[in-house]
Amino acid sequence: MALVEKYAEQIQKTFAKYPDKRSAVMPMLHLAQQEYGWVSPESIQEVADICEMDPTQVKSIAGFYTMYSENPKGKYWLQVCTDLACALCGADQYYEDLKKELGVGDGGTTEDGVFTVEHVMCLAACDKAPMMQCNFHFVEKLDMEKTRELLAQWRAEAAQQA
Ligand code: FES
Repeated sequence: MALVEKYAEQIQKTFAKYPDKRSAVMPMLHLAQQEYGWVSPESIQEVADICEMDPTQVKSIAGFYTMYSENPKGKYWLQVCTDLACALCGADQYYEDLKKELGVGDGGTTEDGVFTVEHVMCLAACDKAPMMQCNFHFVEKLDMEKTRELLAQWRAEAAQQA
């Protein structure tokens, strides 16, 4: 179902916060990202139609911000910080272990489409390293034991939603 139908009420509420429809382009891109797991060319067109904009303008905005992905992602997008403070707390080894656990390389998606992993720069939770964000929610003070529990929990959630 198209965003404009499925989220009609939410879209109207969002428009009410802005002076015109095009000003709501970023929340609409977030909506597309949340719904589809990435901002596909089709969803760029959807957002352009919703915001009454040229798709090229919408694409340029989506391409500028790293929180919008223009490539398909797993249901759970795991972004592990490997920047300095986290690296000093073992983030590099943690990231290697996580990739090994999931059987993927950097930026890879598991065969079942549940997880995508990638490393990112500082997420401003340096005092809680090693850390990652999962679909933009912070998960902190990680080790592999805790991570295996989380992966099992997320896998179970994904199976329930399938
Ligand atoms: S260096 Fe990892 S959160 Fe800042």
